Amino acid sequence: MKPSALLSTFPARPARLLLSQGLLLAAALVGLPASAAEDADKMAMGKKLFTAGAVPACALCHTLKDAGSEGAVGPVFDELKPNAARVNKALHDGLGAMPSYKASLTEAQIDALAYYVSRASGGEK
Ligand code: HEC
Repeated sequence: MKPSALLSTFPARPARLLLSQGLLLAAALVGLPASAAEDADKMAMGKKLFTAGAVPACALCHTLKDAGSEGAVGPVFDELKPNAARVNKALHDGLGAMPSYKASLTEAQIDALAYYVSRASGGEK
């Protein structure tokens, strides 16, 4: 191969390789990792609300291993394993000694709590 031929083909290859890698990366960024990041955000937000953000905090009355809480007034979530809909309903309506959080939490906060408690307890896979 003549040096001139080398020069004309050689730079073209890495460029094409970079382009296809770039496309893969772009696809990955708008696909799976984005929803994984969203999931992690929601879990972190729910956990924070559970341990301290909600007033009174869920941790005061409920045991949930993932949150490190040992409250003994309400059910133990590691055993109850409530799904998100059940948590959501309890937060809106209150139940027995548990107050309603409808007025003190936003819908997004209630949603994050339901998401977190259901997944951290194994109620929703
Ligand atoms: C003052 C104590 C107290 C606090 C604070 C509290 N709970 Fe409860 N919770 C209870 C009690 C008591 C029950 C059981 C009520 C019953 O069955 O009569 C309960 C039940 C539940 C249930 C089960 C509902 C069902 O369908 O059986 C869920 C889910 C729940 N709580 C979630 C939460 C979350 C999330 C928080 C924080 C935002 C929270 N609780 C804060 C006392 C509390």
